[in-house]
Amino acid sequence: RNTNDFAARLLAWFDVSGRHDLPWQHPRTPYRVWLSEIMLQQTQVKTAAPYFERFVQALPTLRDLAAAPLDDVLALWSGLGYYARARNLHAAAKRCVELHGGELPRDLDALTALPGVGRSTAAAIASQAWNDRHAILDGNVKRVMSRYHGVEGYPGLPAVEKKLWALVDAHVASPQLPDTRLADYTQAQMDLGATLCTRSDPACVLCPLQDECVARREGRVAELPTPKPS
Ligand code: ADE
Ligand code: SF4
Repeated sequence: RNTNDFAARLLAWFDVSGRHDLPWQHPRTPYRVWLSEIMLQQTQVKTAAPYFERFVQALPTLRDLAAAPLDDVLALWSGLGYYARARNLHAAAKRCVELHGGELPRDLDALTALPGVGRSTAAAIASQAWNDRHAILDGNVKRVMSRYHGVEGYPGLPAVEKKLWALVDAHVASPQLPDTRLADYTQAQMDLGATLCTRSDPACVLCPLQDECVARREGRVAELPTPKPS
């Protein structure tokens, strides 16, 4: 499979059809990117956006968040659900003040060590905040990769997940992905998964990857990704 085409096609599509007006993109600071990624772990963009605006208005910086009482943070989170996210966010902000001079650390391992930040979230933060070259693998990207490469097996299985990580690592290393465009590349994958390569009935006719997509070519779009074994 031509790994180079993936990034180039995706970026060209993103420039025309991607989302460029999300609240955390303007301005795109590490704090705002981190907050948005935590909100978007279990919440859709449309729902999260007004919560995000309210949150950064009340707590505009990481230091403001660290200094706020937990109850204030939970009140700002009220309605979003999964409140462990808000507790972790608060704890992580305090830790950044203690250990990282009141900033988010740029190092991937240091990011992953923060409460609530897994490998893919850390990569999403670093790529969007600093244009660092890290692959993401969230639910959307697992679906796109499974289809594009025709990967069999439930993506929650460690062996399958390992295969998918190897694929996204190969794509992010593409020479057709300029150093200046890692933030766009990450956002493009999320946008493709959310708007075209959707769980049911994906819009393959509009997809920039349709010519190279194994699932599309072999008529297996409905079967991939493989569902969770029951
Ligand atoms: N889900 C997780 N991160 C996202 C982002 N930056 N944009 C859209 N959906 C997302
Ligand atoms: Fe997804 Fe269809 Fe595009 Fe393949 S062609 S990546 S299945 S939207």
